[in-house]
Amino acid sequence: MPQTLSFEQAAALPLTAITAWEALFDRLKVPPRSSAPAKSLLIIGGAGGVGSIAIQLAVKVAGLKVIATASRPESAQWVRELGAQHVINHFGDLPAQLKEQGFDSVDYVLILNDTDRHFPAAAAAVAPQGMICTIVENAAPLDVSLLKAKSAGFIWEFMFTRSMFQTADMQEQGKLLDQVAQLIDQKTLVTTVSQVLSPINAANLRQAHATLETGRVIGKIVLKDF
Ligand SMILES: NC(=O)c1ccc[n+]([C@@H]2O[C@H](COP(=O)([O-])OP(=O)(O)OC[C@H]3O[C@@H](n4cnc5c(N)ncnc54)[C@H](OP(=O)(O)O)[C@@H]3O)[C@@H](O)[C@H]2O)c1
Repeated sequence: MPQTLSFEQAAALPLTAITAWEALFDRLKVPPRSSAPAKSLLIIGGAGGVGSIAIQLAVKVAGLKVIATASRPESAQWVRELGAQHVINHFGDLPAQLKEQGFDSVDYVLILNDTDRHFPAAAAAVAPQGMICTIVENAAPLDVSLLKAKSAGFIWEFMFTRSMFQTADMQEQGKLLDQVAQLIDQKTLVTTVSQVLSPINAANLRQAHATLETGRVIGKIVLKDF
């Protein structure tokens, strides 16, 4: 646990930080920050729990140029404050908005919401030899042939894979959480908690779920104290 955070500030982080870290560094294989020209990453669904930490890791740790999607003034402001250099709207035409922001294509796409809706746009926007990662299950088959001409890649991130299959590298999740804790204590990253409900009872659980079901959560909701 980061030494500089309260329990509720820290509780917001592990699941989403593991997901975002694995998506960026293990699945998309974003290289460590270097003096090479910054590569670009489109994060679809930037203001949610995973997006809020993914933006920070991508900008502040990996040195990527990040275009995050957000559809409302408050979510757009949130992703900008976390470091996204460009904001576009996930309910609009993503490739067209990317062009307006000066991007003919992006090196990486991270889909954090509605894979069925966003996969074709991600395939159109990804650069030749680029990579797309999603963390959200699709309902209908995805047409991966859209990626063939570009030799682009598609990969899943599921933060339970390592524990579910007891993979030999399971301890990597502990190591990455240690690194996240250090980055928090060094003030490189900030917690993503946006709302704390207390105590943990049926009424607050219901309220938290109802808020999540609106699909408009910014950051992470934490429940505290029995
Ligand atoms: N694979 C894994 O290991 C893993 C781990 C964690 C979470 N997940 C899954 O990942 C998803 C994201 O979870 P989360 O907690 O980070 O965020 P979330 O609470 O589901 O996301 C809320 C955000 O999504 C945006 N949004 C709403 N509709 C959208 C759409 N059609 N397209 C793009 N963005 C949209 C909203 O932005 P606006 O208000 O600006 O519209 C809002 O800020 C969930 O489905 C969750 O189950 C998977």
